[in-house]
Amino acid sequence: MRQLCSSDLFSPKRILSFQPIRAAGVQSLLSATLAHRDRPMHLRPVLLAAMLDIIAKMTIGRSLSQGYERRMKAVAQPWDCLLQEVLDKRRSVPWANEGDNGRSSSNNSLDKATDLLDVLLSFPELTDDNIKAVIADMFLGGTESASITIEWALGELLANPLALKALQKELDMVVGSTRLVQEEDLANLPYLQAVVKETMRLHPVAPFLFPHQSSQACKVGEYEIPADTRALINVWAIGRNPNVWDSPLKFDPNRFMEKASYSHVNVYGRHFELIPFGSGKRKCPALTLGLLSVHIFIASLVQAFDWQFPPTSLIVDRDAKFGVSRILAPPLCITPSPRIQGFEC
Ligand code: HEM
Repeated sequence: MRQLCSSDLFSPKRILSFQPIRAAGVQSLLSATLAHRDRPMHLRPVLLAAMLDIIAKMTIGRSLSQGYERRMKAVAQPWDCLLQEVLDKRRSVPWANEGDNGRSSSNNSLDKATDLLDVLLSFPELTDDNIKAVIADMFLGGTESASITIEWALGELLANPLALKALQKELDMVVGSTRLVQEEDLANLPYLQAVVKETMRLHPVAPFLFPHQSSQACKVGEYEIPADTRALINVWAIGRNPNVWDSPLKFDPNRFMEKASYSHVNVYGRHFELIPFGSGKRKCPALTLGLLSVHIFIASLVQAFDWQFPPTSLIVDRDAKFGVSRILAPPLCITPSPRIQGFEC
């Protein structure tokens, strides 16, 4: 299943093919934000809705209509039934999902596939239960992780006006103010990349990753780990370790910029001081997609809007509750005002 995730579900080609879905997600996020112009808004529900829509279109080729969403929340209609319904419908009308955006005429079923359900259905060895489990994992793994990271980034930027100014300046120089930032611009935005790394260092979405278990005895550093040992990796503490990071509690994206001490460190799982997606075989299978979404959402929100805390609000609660996901508490409530003119929402 892992192999399938990296070679087929999240191959670079397939991630690229979902670009229009991400662009539509950004557009709907900006529209929803514009509807709150000059009034305080809670960012979290808007972000969650945008990410949920992206994941739904990628996996099952359609938005979750209100009916579906309501039923998913209802205990009597668990995920399993709903996903089975989607699966059965797709089987009865192959290659013709509602979100059809031009299927290729290739004879290869993998090439024809336009969403992840098509890809999964092209593997006859997968049972319905396998397919439903993968789709459910995408919804559960994908929606919150990206939204939480984006919310933390915005909170940190607002609490650190110099960093916010530096990011706005970079966007103004590289993209300008006559068009919206695009995914093709991301490679030319090193400060944005540094902001994302710094956010993930201080606020990893899975502070302990998922529990890992040693299949055989092994040695990690000075420690002998017996077989069948359950290990929790405290990524949160690693990101704040004063033996590794200078001024570890300071939000300072500059530490990742060219020629700075940590410029060589990235989040792909090879630099163990920064592993917000995990590392090795169990690391997040959608790392590239998650990173792309987080970058384009933060860039768009910062380029398109000026943001302010309402006068009485708390800034970022750094002592937020420690759970499986560490989130902003209380939820980030901020006021957007359009910053560039003429972007269509
Ligand atoms: C900022 C975005 C994201 C972050 C920080 C993130 C982080 C993580 C982490 C830390 C893990 C556990 C790794 C481990 O225990 O070693 C994980 C697993 C997973 N992630 Fe992500 N993720 C993100 C986005 C996504 C997206 C967009 C999807 C799907 C569309 C996704 C799907 C999954 C799945 C299915 C797993 C479970 C893998 C397994 O069962 O072993 N993630 N992710």
